[in-house]
Amino acid sequence: MNILVIGSGGREHAIIRKLKENPLAQTIYCAPGNGGIAADAVCLPVKACDVQGMVAIAKEKKIDFAVVTPDDPLVFGMVDAMNNAGIKTFGPTAAAAQIEGSKVFSKNLMKKYGIPTATYETFDDAADAVSYIRARGQFPVVIKADGLALGKGVLIVNSMSEAEEGIHSIMEDKVFGASGNRVVIEEFLTGPEASVLAFCDGNTIVPMVSAMDHKRALDHDQGLNTGGMGTVAPNRHYTAEIAERCMKTIFQPTVEAMKAEGRPFSGCLFFGLMITPKGPYVIEYNCRFGDPETQVVLPLLKTDLLEIMLAVWDKRLDKVKVEFSDLHAACVVLASGGYPVSYQTGFPISGLNQQGQMEGATIYHAGTKFEDGVYKTAGGRVLGLVATAPTGNDALKKAYQAAEKISFGGVHYRRDIGAKN
Ligand code: AMP
Ligand code: GLY
Repeated sequence: MNILVIGSGGREHAIIRKLKENPLAQTIYCAPGNGGIAADAVCLPVKACDVQGMVAIAKEKKIDFAVVTPDDPLVFGMVDAMNNAGIKTFGPTAAAAQIEGSKVFSKNLMKKYGIPTATYETFDDAADAVSYIRARGQFPVVIKADGLALGKGVLIVNSMSEAEEGIHSIMEDKVFGASGNRVVIEEFLTGPEASVLAFCDGNTIVPMVSAMDHKRALDHDQGLNTGGMGTVAPNRHYTAEIAERCMKTIFQPTVEAMKAEGRPFSGCLFFGLMITPKGPYVIEYNCRFGDPETQVVLPLLKTDLLEIMLAVWDKRLDKVKVEFSDLHAACVVLASGGYPVSYQTGFPISGLNQQGQMEGATIYHAGTKFEDGVYKTAGGRVLGLVATAPTGNDALKKAYQAAEKISFGGVHYRRDIGAKN
């Protein structure tokens, strides 16, 4: 089979390396990919959001199966366009991707179908939103831009002046563009967070092993929100009892709700959960694999990934036994100094072999290029160093030992991945 993975980060690299385990995967292409992915797949110079360009190159390369990973091409209808062109494609349609593409849509869905989530109101007028927060008079309160905002569209504000400033920047200054035409204002919840990715074919949902993300740039959850600075799996807060409650009150009801709305969800559905004193609540849905959750979840998957993805496409996920190993996995992200604000790129990376790998850990490349025989930095998040072991501590130790052997100008990573209680 000729396979095309659309995207360019560490998540895509992890998917490609897993798909490669199946001997049926003859040639794996990645568009656009990156320097490190090029050691495992043939990279094609087509942007992940270029729907027409992607369909054209998929036809030219005689692609048998495609996987769309990032949020924006999914919301823009990449899967619809590829399937319409006769190319079997893993991922939700644009209609189903609204579960991530619009927070107003997802909050209304949860309310309508009784899925536990923070109480909220939606607004399309800045003055109304401010009046509501004033009348409510409770802080902290959470303000969310409706649409995609590169993971930065959530503000937790502690005072009326912060709330006014936040509403102004989202709805009037439009710092996230049209994504800020509407906002969701919601109750502030507390409790540990867990990320659960799930295979879903529209009817059947199969959750994967749970993960814990670390979104803030600096140790002890300080600094700005990033795409994710590291992950561990499984997440110790996500017990078997919580998993059972989630299946009953969140996962299966979400699948049924999307079906009832005429938007059956096929692909990987990501549940951002908070385990509150009242039980598990949905903080957010994503219509895709998480990054860097995928980098710790897929190394623990024992069942063949291509087989599962094909079963999802064929709506026969109920026939596949999806199994995970009992090991633990840890991912430490090496980022460029200054990420997520401003940073320089083009620094040579030392410690990697010609395949972009090293002894002792698996390296998923997020933002690298291969130039003059060396890997160089080319993005904010540069590498994800992943290790597995029988215990979480040993997996972390191996990932951190790998981090000590790699260096590039301005390298920054968190030292406390997996240390939080
Ligand atoms: P998101 O971009 O939707 O993943 O939100 C970013 C982060 O904001 C989440 O990981 C939570 O830590 C936090 N957050 C979002 N909604 C709430 C809420 N209702 N209560 C408390 N924290 C929240
Ligand atoms: N790690 C969170 C996300 O992929 O959105």
